[in-house]
Amino acid sequence: MAKPEQPAPRPPEPGVVAAIVAEVYAHCRADTSGELADYIPELAAAQPDSFALCLATADGRIYGTGDTTTAFTIQSISKPFTYALALADRGPEAVAQRIDVEPSGEAFNEISLDPVTERPRNPMINAGAITAASLISGHNAKERFQRILDCYSRFAGRGLTMNEAVYASESRTGYRNRAIGYMLRSFGIIDSDPDEAVDRYFRQCSVEITCHDLAIMAATLANNGVNPGTGARALTAALTEQVLSVMTTCGMYNAAGDWVSTVGMPAKSGVGGGILAVLPGQIGIAVYSPRLDPHGNSVRGVAACRELSKRLELHFL
Ligand code: DON
Repeated sequence: MAKPEQPAPRPPEPGVVAAIVAEVYAHCRADTSGELADYIPELAAAQPDSFALCLATADGRIYGTGDTTTAFTIQSISKPFTYALALADRGPEAVAQRIDVEPSGEAFNEISLDPVTERPRNPMINAGAITAASLISGHNAKERFQRILDCYSRFAGRGLTMNEAVYASESRTGYRNRAIGYMLRSFGIIDSDPDEAVDRYFRQCSVEITCHDLAIMAATLANNGVNPGTGARALTAALTEQVLSVMTTCGMYNAAGDWVSTVGMPAKSGVGGGILAVLPGQIGIAVYSPRLDPHGNSVRGVAACRELSKRLELHFL
């Protein structure tokens, strides 16, 4: 006899969610530990005490508190979205020939390839992200970056733009990423101009978002690739699943194990102070707080995601 189906857990009432978001914000606010990223000089200009928390549901509700309309740069949170576009442009097999999906346990900017496959270990570290940027289709560099911007904008549900000052600052100081680009070219992982791929990576990292935008981007991933606000499809369901899988194992770099055990959701952080987390099928979470821990993850961002996961029972892994 077939086993009776378990009823799906009922999502909490909107009033309860709003109250929990406000409580978690208040709970995490007092922690002013951590440091602003300053290896890209312009990032040190952020307001260190800014703090915003937003939760967006796959059916289009948004709950936010704090500095939810403060602009900041997306930084490494761009990586899953450019990887998504590369998958859509080239197909999963062609992308897999150049970028693995194994957790690296290394810093995001490690100058390394897997010694056996001679490929970047995953698309969330810089080597994999620069490779993904090299795989974006278009007639010229301008069009390729515009396609990235259009892709991110479909996820956010509004036209996003780049912060020129942050881009110029990273471009002026990005020797390590250039070294990674040249390494990739010398191993044949990138077969086009490495300077163009690295420049595109600098540009994508400098796209400006708010915590509100980031929550909608997360909710679009939660909603199988369809933006819950606009109804536009940003990514196929199959590719959304692939992106979320890689975020689960590689999104938080060498803090990934701790993240999975304490938060239990696919996520991605950026040195601009943002974190995006996704409960597939249900919820997108975004936090902005620019003081970072030694891994390069937002201190209050990690704490808020842990606390939300605990109070709303979001841990699903
Ligand atoms: O590659 C870099 O240096 C930056 N533009 C992005 C790094 C980043 O956000 C790392 N994440 N925590």
